[in-house]
Amino acid sequence: MTLDVIAAAAAQAVIDAGRFILRPVRKSDAGLFALYAGDRRVAEATHSIPHPLPPGAAEGFVTRAIKRPQDEDIWVMDGSQSSLPEVLGVISLKRMDVAKYNRDQSEVGYWVAPAFWNLGIASAAVQALVDANPQANRTMFAEVFQDNPGSARVLTNAGFQYLGDAETFSVARNARVPTWTYIRKLG
Ligand SMILES: CC(C)(COP(=O)(O)OP(=O)(O)OC[C@H]1O[C@@H](n2cnc3c(N)ncnc32)[C@H](O)[C@@H]1OP(=O)(O)O)[C@@H](O)C(=O)NCCC(=O)NCCS
Repeated sequence: MTLDVIAAAAAQAVIDAGRFILRPVRKSDAGLFALYAGDRRVAEATHSIPHPLPPGAAEGFVTRAIKRPQDEDIWVMDGSQSSLPEVLGVISLKRMDVAKYNRDQSEVGYWVAPAFWNLGIASAAVQALVDANPQANRTMFAEVFQDNPGSARVLTNAGFQYLGDAETFSVARNARVPTWTYIRKLG
């Protein structure tokens, strides 16, 4: 799929995840993003979130998330329709190698606010994304740091399979960290 085609299909779906929905990011999410992504436990489990979170970083993230078209879709896990908080976490799908290979592959990324850990939120969000397959992927990938077995569990809960070991830079840790790569075939 080329970026022009992505532009034509730019409307981002709302996805039902049971107890919550996955909805597009809103400007008003920035405050809670700053609070939750500013938590060291969240930042250090991701590749790209710096710690401490610099001023304006959450607003910048929101602006990029809202700007369309782009090669990454970002959803908020929003529980407000079930009397749960409006922001439980974030999940994203980033198209891989679009211009070069056109392989219909995307990488899944996610975080959940620490107050809501171990309630099945991330597992339900990843499963909902797999079921909805909003980018019509043939394959989804995910990479987790090897010191984050809970995140690996989230992936296996949603039918991902271990593919191999690698290493990725973590901005918050300012270090390269060993990773496990997971794959989910679709369709
Ligand atoms: C990883 C993360 C997304 C999990 O979110 P969550 O909503 O708590 O996940 P779930 O409740 O759906 O599932 C967690 C699973 O991990 C298991 N788990 C938790 N801690 C664990 C540990 N130390 N070792 C092994 N398994 C663990 C839980 O038992 C659960 O498995 P189960 O469903 O089989 O019982 C959340 O902790 C987080 O946001 N962490 C910081 C950011 C991050 O790691 N993002 C992912 C980057 S790849």
